[in-house]
Amino acid sequence: MRYAVNFPGGTVQYVFGSFSESLPGLIPGQAVLIADQNVTGLYPSLLKEYTIAQVPPREEQKSLAVVGTLTEQLLTQQVHRKTFLVGVGGGVITDLTGFLASIYMRGVSFGFVPTTLLAMVDAAIGGKNGVNIGGHKNFVGTISQPKFILFDTQFLKTLPDAEWSNGFAEVIKYACLFDKTLFEELELRDINYYRQNEMALSKLIKRCVELKNIVVVGDERDTGLRKLLNFGHTAGHAFETLHQLPHGHAVALGMLIACRVSEDEAGLDKTVIQRLKKLLQQYELPVQLAYDTDSVVNILKMDKKRNEQAVDYIVLREVGKAAIKTISFEVIQKALESYE
Ligand SMILES: NC(=O)c1ccc[n+]([C@@H]2O[C@H](COP(=O)([O-])OP(=O)(O)OC[C@H]3O[C@@H](n4cnc5c(N)ncnc54)[C@H](O)[C@@H]3O)[C@@H](O)[C@H]2O)c1
Repeated sequence: MRYAVNFPGGTVQYVFGSFSESLPGLIPGQAVLIADQNVTGLYPSLLKEYTIAQVPPREEQKSLAVVGTLTEQLLTQQVHRKTFLVGVGGGVITDLTGFLASIYMRGVSFGFVPTTLLAMVDAAIGGKNGVNIGGHKNFVGTISQPKFILFDTQFLKTLPDAEWSNGFAEVIKYACLFDKTLFEELELRDINYYRQNEMALSKLIKRCVELKNIVVVGDERDTGLRKLLNFGHTAGHAFETLHQLPHGHAVALGMLIACRVSEDEAGLDKTVIQRLKKLLQQYELPVQLAYDTDSVVNILKMDKKRNEQAVDYIVLREVGKAAIKTISFEVIQKALESYE
């Protein structure tokens, strides 16, 4: 399956198929693969024909220092304006490759082969890329679209358990925000079902891609609608910072706090939070954390979305219907205190 999506910043080909069969046709001329070292280690025969710049795994690789090192490496390999860069890996690699390609010689074409569930349903899509500065995530970056994204679910066969639940946190996020039917489908299944059922997994990924694209096409530069994708990420970010939680775990807890806020501020039925708790547990995500409310609120106040006493916050009216609302820190504090 293959289709194109037109964004204000360019057209992206979405290709669902095999890496070895599809990639050659997507990269005219010279190409360099910027690839996660775990992936190159796991798939040596698949990648052996390509020129590869390897990047060790881990979030710390999303740095300006690594961008500098890769730039020098590309220069040595005589990478020129017409060379294609292809990021092969999880979100760390797609963010890094997209950023590097956007600034290398003022921009070269690039594509992605996401190899984690999270990168397939979220990180590779939408054109946002960048690196971290100190403790500030994604602080420098660009919005530029890849020429293609190639989805080959075979890569997921080697994905560690923890990365599956991280990815599912974002899948559940899309269901909460936009798709009641998807929420109900997820309720009937679990991670093992999707791991063992390739057709259902592919369908699920395609649906998430479609949902994210609808939002990004409407607001590529993140001035309105795209903010909805921050559902669960406001408190989630604070939990991630304070407790060094995996991103998916932090988002799971953040979504629960957002539901608690939504009960008072958006009329969300009280049964939803119970359903969401059960769903998150089904996908091996946490629903409890011993946090200090004041510390969480202090982090929120320092967050870049700050607006004096309140914050732009994503609330649910019902499963599948979300809204952006200005919510005071006082209300969030109460929700954090009353969540159990
Ligand atoms: N640009 C965006 O819109 C956007 C959206 C969401 C997240 N992100 C970014 O994505 C990053 C997180 O992405 P991630 O969760 O994919 O993390 P990641 O890239 O660190 O990958 C997670 C782990 O999985 C390993 N891995 C990758 N593919 C594998 C495979 N097929 N088999 C076995 N192991 C494999 C990696 O080596 C790594 O250890 C964060 O930096 C986040 O900021 C960006």
